[in-house]
Amino acid sequence: MYKILFVCLGNICRSPMAEYLLKDIVLKKGISDDFLIESAGTSNEEYGNPVHYGTKKILNNLGISCENKRARKMTIDDYNNFDYIICMESNNIKGINRIVNDTNNKVFRLLDFSDNPRDIADPWYTGNFDETYSDIIEGINSFLKYLGY
Ligand code: 4NP
Repeated sequence: MYKILFVCLGNICRSPMAEYLLKDIVLKKGISDDFLIESAGTSNEEYGNPVHYGTKKILNNLGISCENKRARKMTIDDYNNFDYIICMESNNIKGINRIVNDTNNKVFRLLDFSDNPRDIADPWYTGNFDETYSDIIEGINSFLKYLGY
């Protein structure tokens, strides 16, 4: 089983989008038993808050519910329990390094799996959730290919 934790700063915009999109994709591919998928933030800023409206709207338009998700901060236990800690941008790597030492080289940036490695901009600031969606889909497809699916 692949245990995957998506990580962003607040855990209300990008990492929940990646969490619920990947959950939906593996379900539709019939491979969901191979995966445990969650998300967390590097900050406690949004602790307990639901998913941001912009991400929720993208997911709901695809028929995906994220109603039960509440933001939380990544922990050392997460680092030990998950196989892949997949973040959105270089700043998240700095944030993760303040929580854990990546001694097992589990920390990746989502678009480093793609042919065009780059950060995924924070829609909290850009307001462009469509761009977030297309970047995350590109990253997820590249990651699944990397895993051999
Ligand atoms: P996210 O976006 O990291 O994609 O969830 C943000 C959400 C909240 C904040 C920053 C980024 N904030 O500063 O509260």
